[in-house]
Amino acid sequence: MTESLQVLIVEDDPDVRLGCEQALQLEDIPVAGVDSAEKARRKLSRDFPGIVVSDIRLPGMDGMALLQEIRAIDPDLPVVLITGHGDVSLAVQAMKNGAHDFIEKPFSPDYLVEVVRRALDKRRLTLEVRQLRARLESREQLEGKLIGRSPAMLRVRQLVTELANSAADILIEGETGTGKEMAARCLHESGPRRSGNFVAINCGGLPETLFDSEIFGHEAGAYTGAGKRRIGKIEHASGGTLFLDEIESMPLAMQTKLLRVLQERSLERLGSNTPVPVNCRVVAATKSDLKALSDQGRFRADLYYRLNVATLPLPPLRERREDIPLLFEHFLLQGAARHERPVPEADAARMGRLMAYDWPGNVRELRNVADRCVLGIEKGFPPFADEAPAGPRSLPDTVADFERALIADALARNGASLARAAEALGVAKTTLHDKIRKYRLGEQN
Ligand SMILES: Nc1ncnc2c1ncn2[C@@H]1O[C@H](COP(=O)(O)OP(=O)(O)OP(=O)(O)O)[C@@H](O)[C@H]1O
Ligand SMILES: [Mg+2]
Repeated sequence: MTESLQVLIVEDDPDVRLGCEQALQLEDIPVAGVDSAEKARRKLSRDFPGIVVSDIRLPGMDGMALLQEIRAIDPDLPVVLITGHGDVSLAVQAMKNGAHDFIEKPFSPDYLVEVVRRALDKRRLTLEVRQLRARLESREQLEGKLIGRSPAMLRVRQLVTELANSAADILIEGETGTGKEMAARCLHESGPRRSGNFVAINCGGLPETLFDSEIFGHEAGAYTGAGKRRIGKIEHASGGTLFLDEIESMPLAMQTKLLRVLQERSLERLGSNTPVPVNCRVVAATKSDLKALSDQGRFRADLYYRLNVATLPLPPLRERREDIPLLFEHFLLQGAARHERPVPEADAARMGRLMAYDWPGNVRELRNVADRCVLGIEKGFPPFADEAPAGPRSLPDTVADFERALIADALARNGASLARAAEALGVAKTTLHDKIRKYRLGEQN
């Protein structure tokens, strides 16, 4: 970006303007000319990739006023002012007002080029420093979200940064609770599409009958009960990110429809023949080996290859145990804040058990254990399964704690799917929902 810095000439005298443009063009310096400060103003923004050379005397807004405006937009944007012959006091004033330099009429092309080169060098440095700073900030932000100092997590964050700034569709692979959704959000937030929507679809949780209208949207009255026009999730993600969670559980018929959209980058709402362009980045997540599923004919091979343009593998927690203390501390702090309890001490023996445990539910399970520690109900559950719960407690408290822990575990084991957790616990979904709210468990997922 900094290679192509340009010079914006603001000069109402066409001969002088052309002279300036030609002098710079001969030196291969990109240049654009305008004849008024108002026109120049419209071309400028904080990260304008170049500098401004402006005559002071202009019809309408003069060069000095333009200088003031530019200083308000970006005080680090160099402005070179052209003064009339012998107009020393104006030149002094220009410098006082923050001009980078001034050139006195008449001037030689060589002198113009020399002054311009100095200003361009300064601009280049400013923009480079800003870019580095922005990159550093986004890295620090990412470090605060995707926590971990293991080499594996450093690699994950590096990949997220690189992939976020590419246009490629991405497949995130990882066991339950490894942070797939979290990584997908980070990909969205670290990239140029962050101002668009992040739209998540749970591919397994949608009945086939609802799929089309949810995903593609429909026109008013497209089918019985269709009611008003509805924008589908893919359209809603336009300019942003479409997150296809649990892609492995998408029924084959839906896979075919999705593939068509991804290939054609356009869709038709139900009840309409007008194609709507699709402009979203697709991030899919899976717990399964999609390649193996496609070899077995359970996942469309062509969809697999279409999604597998870039892969982000998330390592299981047991393969990066050195991240456990940092994550545990993070979740203790979060849990303490959420439950309005003090932060419990993590003694060495406890930490040893956390480090030795295998974490089948990965980071989410660690988070649940931290939560139980905050509430003082961790005993009797992995990795403290063999420790007897402490002291005499009232029956209702014990029952409530037990219930809460069972539900948290069921949620962890079922990938936070309410339906599956309810089934595993043998209760109705609505009952489970009420209890999740009562125990404030939903906030963890
Ligand atoms: N590296 C990490 N740093 C901080 N928190 C994390 C990290 N990885 C995961 N988490 C947290 O762990 C929990 C589980 O993460 P997430 O929901 O992204 O996992 P998942 O891979 O999508 O799980 P599932 O396959 O079960 O849907 C979330 O609360 C998330 O914020
Ligand atoms: Mg998930």
